[in-house]
Amino acid sequence: MLSTERKEALLRQKGIVLWFLGLSGSGKSTLAKGLEKKLYDKGYYSMLLDGDNLRTGLNKNLDFCSDDRQENLRRTSEVAKLFAYNGAITICSFISPTEKSRAMVKEIVGDKYFQVYVNSPLEVCEDRDVKGLYKKARKGEIENFTGIGAPFETPLHSDFEVRTDLNSIEDSINLVYESILQHIKQ
Ligand code: ADX
Repeated sequence: MLSTERKEALLRQKGIVLWFLGLSGSGKSTLAKGLEKKLYDKGYYSMLLDGDNLRTGLNKNLDFCSDDRQENLRRTSEVAKLFAYNGAITICSFISPTEKSRAMVKEIVGDKYFQVYVNSPLEVCEDRDVKGLYKKARKGEIENFTGIGAPFETPLHSDFEVRTDLNSIEDSINLVYESILQHIKQ
């Protein structure tokens, strides 16, 4: 098997797992997509793994109880690791609600793990309610909804944090981009 270094030399970049975590509605997916586009424009190869798309395929047998969330993140981080050690900038967008789950992901991914906390207060996420899920959760129509019927622990060890309630989408993307540049440049 070819080494990570040879793949990275071919791609003229360094592989990394950018693990975006935060509440539903915090802007993870928007930032992830925006960053993917920015990286493309700058000549970097990246890919996106997202809770909403992995849960319709690879992880479709899993729900939102705490064991299944852990398994969702375990499988995803194993996949992300494979891509990153083959040179890809792998952007993952998952709520990742507990410190235990984040520690597991970090342990699996190893040196190439870079945690980005997409931070927006619960009130703001609930106010945005992009998918209408908070409203349903408040009415009791969704069990274990993160921030309502299930916990979201404040991340204590992020490599970077971006406040999406205080920064525009474009500024947030640029801030994250600047923070990773030194880690993806050859
Ligand atoms: S995680 O907790 O296992 O990391 P993940 O990021 O994959 O969650 O999925 C979150 C997405 O699933 C949300 O953006 C939302 O669209 C949807 N969803 C459906 N039910 C729930 C729920 N009970 N809690 C949180 N998100 C839910």
